[in-house]
Amino acid sequence: MRLEVDHLGKTYGATRALDGLSLRVESSRVLVLIGPSGGGKSTFLRVLGGLELPDAGQVRVNTHELAGASPPELQAYRRRNGFLFQQFNLFPHLTARQNITLPLEKVHGHDPAVASTMGEAALVRFGLIDHADKLPAQLSGGQQQRVGIARAIAVAPEVLFLDEPTSALDPEMTAEVLELIQELAEAGQDIILSTHEMGFARAVADQVAFVAAGKIEEAGAPAEIFGAPRSEQVRRFLSRVMRY
Ligand SMILES: Nc1ncnc2c1ncn2[C@@H]1O[C@H](COP(=O)(O)OP(=O)(O)O)[C@@H](O)[C@H]1O
Ligand SMILES: [Mg+2]
Repeated sequence: MRLEVDHLGKTYGATRALDGLSLRVESSRVLVLIGPSGGGKSTFLRVLGGLELPDAGQVRVNTHELAGASPPELQAYRRRNGFLFQQFNLFPHLTARQNITLPLEKVHGHDPAVASTMGEAALVRFGLIDHADKLPAQLSGGQQQRVGIARAIAVAPEVLFLDEPTSALDPEMTAEVLELIQELAEAGQDIILSTHEMGFARAVADQVAFVAAGKIEEAGAPAEIFGAPRSEQVRRFLSRVMRY
């Protein structure tokens, strides 16, 4: 994927969540956003995914110009993408299978037979077939996130957006979900994700952007950002979070 982001602004009340954020990425398979809490990672992801319009600036993802998009254009763009957030966003009253097939019918307009075939393929691909008819409450957190990823991937998204997909998981389930994300990346899925898992970020990313105070403090290849950051703020952040 390719990103051109210029002077992006997004304000909530008195909070400048994005404050003139600019970023150029010529070509990336997996872009990872890191940085302190409240720095603007989630807001930036939502704007890149077409879930929110910026107040100011320009943003282009591949061929899609988002800043001036009309509501129908933005909705069409949003439907091309896949999303998974930190909190498990499954419908609690639907089985794993229904969580995958229902959006395929209601949002993407597939007829039930087609949705069922697509859902079955996603369940098989992610090793979830034995859990297909369970409700979210009957699944572990890691399994729920796998269902969420299966749902996001079932439509073959142009870009998969993951916002701290492992932050609510214990270490073993975190590993399970991180492995799945790595497999998707290796299979050629374009991904933009935010994470606090620095080891994973370094391993899976081909581009890393450090977001703080609504701006990009530094961006580049993982070897540069993690190995030899130019920014003093990035250096301090990494030395603090990688100590434990
Ligand atoms: N929907 C919202 N309403 C009000 N404030 C928000 C909203 N989303 C984010 N913010 C604020 O914007 C800033 C950036 O938040 P966020 O993008 O969630 O950062 P991060 O994901 O890096 O923790 C924070 O100060 C946050 O409180
Ligand atoms: Mg966030």
